[in-house]
Amino acid sequence: MVQAVVLESVSKRFGRIQAVRNLNLEIEGGMVYGLLGPNGSGKSTTMKMVMGLVKPDSGRICVYGIDVQRDPMKVKKILGYVPETPCLYSFLTGLEYLDFIADIYGMDAEIKKAQIEEFLEAFELEGRENEMISGYSHGMKQKIALIAALLHKPKLLVLDEPLGGLDPKSARIVKNLIHKLADDGVTTIMSTHVLEIADAVCDRIAILYRGEKLAEGTSAELREKAQMPKSTLEEVFLKLTGTNDVKEIVEALLS
Ligand SMILES: Nc1ncnc2c1ncn2[C@@H]1O[C@H](COP(=O)(O)OP(=O)(O)OP(=O)(O)O)[C@@H](O)[C@H]1O
Ligand SMILES: [Mg+2]
Repeated sequence: MVQAVVLESVSKRFGRIQAVRNLNLEIEGGMVYGLLGPNGSGKSTTMKMVMGLVKPDSGRICVYGIDVQRDPMKVKKILGYVPETPCLYSFLTGLEYLDFIADIYGMDAEIKKAQIEEFLEAFELEGRENEMISGYSHGMKQKIALIAALLHKPKLLVLDEPLGGLDPKSARIVKNLIHKLADDGVTTIMSTHVLEIADAVCDRIAILYRGEKLAEGTSAELREKAQMPKSTLEEVFLKLTGTNDVKEIVEALLS
């Protein structure tokens, strides 16, 4: 099996904060891999390091056998990224933006047009593509960012909280799309706080806490490891990350 992403003892510190600590991950090609963890646990930092946007202090990262530190441009060509808060050129129309991105990747004009049309239709954005992005809703911006990440058919898709602003139908479209891409061999790394989504979409999941990997496996394996085979992934997550005292916290807040 091809290893799509390998992290070996990767660490990253921002001043006093150890954002990622000695992290090892092996993600097989065609897999949908979920990063779960509370706020500030190092999910986004890990993803940014995989893409070469943040430089690790130590350790090594390879994407489809390419060393990210040594050959960052080669890696960027085969990946698509949707950040937590997509930063689009708001003075362009949706269509102009997608055209611009496709041109950066040097896509053929015919293929580009067909691909963009197909995606706009799938995400129910047709008819809105000639409006300025500044007038789009949050979810519409997210959809444009997702289309932009997919246009050049990446081998690795990195999605930071991809379903956050999407309505249920759009979220379902994205979930199905991720599965379909996985069938075609595309690897996806996604972070999410929504545990049902992780359960429904991800083949394997790593639970991060304060920059460290607490556990890794399929959602069934995580339940086994936590000795909670009949529990939901949410209960396992809360146990592993030490936040199963939620009830006490809420009571204290209201007292
Ligand atoms: N550029 C930066 N400068 C300083 N500290 C940073 C920077 N980026 C991340 N951090 C810190 O590193 C830690 C991990 O942040 P990160 O964004 O990776 O968390 P996360 O798991 O994605 O959280 P969230 O669920 O809130 O998105 C946090 O304590 C954060 O404040
Ligand atoms: Mg984040």
